[in-house]
Amino acid sequence: VLEDGVYSDVRFDDEQPPPLRELAPGHVIYCDSLSKTVGGGLRMGWIAARGPVFDRLAMLKLNSDFHTNTLSQHITARFLAAGLYEKHLAASNPFYRERRDLMMEALEKHLAGEYRAERPNGGHHVWVQLLRPLDERALYREAVRQGVTFTPGGTVTVERPPLTSLRLSFSLVDPDDLDEGVRRLARALREVRRRERYSATVPVS
Ligand SMILES: Cc1ncc(COP(=O)(O)O)c(C=O)c1O
Repeated sequence: VLEDGVYSDVRFDDEQPPPLRELAPGHVIYCDSLSKTVGGGLRMGWIAARGPVFDRLAMLKLNSDFHTNTLSQHITARFLAAGLYEKHLAASNPFYRERRDLMMEALEKHLAGEYRAERPNGGHHVWVQLLRPLDERALYREAVRQGVTFTPGGTVTVERPPLTSLRLSFSLVDPDDLDEGVRRLARALREVRRRERYSATVPVS
């Protein structure tokens, strides 16, 4: 089992559950990084694994890029050992929580009755499902035309999701822009629905 804990420290409403690896250390390879909490540009991450698996992973890493630069590794190790990571999270999680809340409010304001979405307890995204089917590609094209983007569900799921799904990211969007972004998305949705209604009534000649 490969456990990807990269978002696990971005937590808003309660304590995070223990990692799977804690329950079954012999069966789980755990990987994590500072990309979602401190900075993606640091390219700093780690793996917890045992025995020969660990050695093979270390060799694979060596073969692929020699190694992550050592100065950054030392700085990161000092940062983690000094307890600064926890301090950083205490400031960054409320920052993302505020954005999560604003996005949920904006969805309710502009798309009420059109969607279903669980309030995420962490991470950087909201997974939105549309209650009525819609051409995902058409929605994406129209959203871009309106000046917003999202990750179409079909691009990140192995099987086609039963409902049209969108991954909306709130982490990088200024609070002032979140409402406007969802408003534009709702406008794009209405426009695509309008077109679909219209094309359904045009006779084939
Ligand atoms: C779910 C998930 N796992 C892992 C990664 C990789 O993180 P890193 O930037 O440390 O390679 C990402 C980054 O986009 C991610 O979204």
